Amino acid sequence: MSIRTLDDLLAEGVSGRRVLVRADLNVPLDKQSGAITDDGRIRAVLPTLSALTGAGAQVVVCSHLGRPKGAPDPQFSLRPVADRLGELLGATVRFATDTVGDSARSTVDALADGEVALLENLRFNAGETSKDEAERGAFADQLAAFGTAYVDDAFGAVHRKHASVYDVAARLPHFAGRLVLREVEVLSTLAGEPERPYVVVLGGSKVSDKLAVIEALLPKVDRLLIGGGMCFTFLKAQGHEVGSSLLEEEMVETCRNLLERSAGKIMLPVDVVVADAFAPDSPHDVVRADGMPSKRVGLDIGPETVAGFAAALTSAPEGAGAPGGARTIFWNGPMGVFEMPAFANGTRGVAEAIAGSGAFTVVGGGDSAAAVRALGLDESSFSHISTGGGASLEYLEGKTLPGIAALEK
Ligand code: 3PG
Ligand code: MG
Repeated sequence: MSIRTLDDLLAEGVSGRRVLVRADLNVPLDKQSGAITDDGRIRAVLPTLSALTGAGAQVVVCSHLGRPKGAPDPQFSLRPVADRLGELLGATVRFATDTVGDSARSTVDALADGEVALLENLRFNAGETSKDEAERGAFADQLAAFGTAYVDDAFGAVHRKHASVYDVAARLPHFAGRLVLREVEVLSTLAGEPERPYVVVLGGSKVSDKLAVIEALLPKVDRLLIGGGMCFTFLKAQGHEVGSSLLEEEMVETCRNLLERSAGKIMLPVDVVVADAFAPDSPHDVVRADGMPSKRVGLDIGPETVAGFAAALTSAPEGAGAPGGARTIFWNGPMGVFEMPAFANGTRGVAEAIAGSGAFTVVGGGDSAAAVRALGLDESSFSHISTGGGASLEYLEGKTLPGIAALEK
């Protein structure tokens, strides 16, 4: 298995060549204004794009945004992303108002050497996500016509068997971009023999989304700290009242079983912040995790839990080898509703403890990466902030990722 990289492509020479780049520019947008609320994924692809434009390539970028249903839907247009990308590159980005139609063709034809075009949202075409190989293949043929080489830098989408991620790679000479390479390098360290103690912090709303990764991680980690909405299903499994907090009733038994098998590795909150309602200005209090009132909703982990989690990150559990704190930390998922300042302290506190730990620290994707930036934390105090939420979890589960497999062929 050997993946050819952007450097291999650059060594071939790309001046005057058209290169198709799959990026993951699926950035969060403000519901009211449509403005980009976190441009981390756009910034993450700049090194690859600049290397190509600097070498004189005609760069055709494609991406998805959100989950439109296979037809154009203006709220998911990539136009604001084209503008932001242009600002960050310091160059005009030509925007095509369709993906493989007339606008795309004329936009691509107009490209001069060293210029960038962005195609409209790939998911405006049913072929992109189709389960039908032929339908995906037909769309991939159209996309492939826009390049003489394909660079995949869409780490956040490598777990999707989609036309632009999987099928296009079979149609063009294919190369991994800088971001994909860095992500795989970091995550393969975690999946291999990470330096111990290895502590994982998981949050986010659903246990069901994290079940596979918990199963895969339990044998490898020294500690697994659980917060966020998913902690309430675990607390329920311990027999506690959880009020109207997020709860996956059908997962309670699974959580009970995990707790039994975890050999004491799993740490749950000992206190939580409960509110009258899911609202930024709702009255709220800190209560014991085993004493939640029946009519209130848990929206964050409490201060004692933050302190306990911080201590667990900076002091080794017995039998974990070296004394001192964790040597490797992986964090995925916010500890509470960090978008509301009243319920952001858990996420902030845990993020700060991770940042200050001295360990090799990896922040896994989506919401936790956005939280780091939204809370104004210094990104450079983490070893790596992944751009992939689902992708990084599936990588750690040991699954074959279609986008990576396609590059290996
Ligand atoms: C993500 O946000 O996780 C990636 O962009 C993939 O998006 P998807 O989950 O809609 O496929
Ligand atoms: Mg997602």
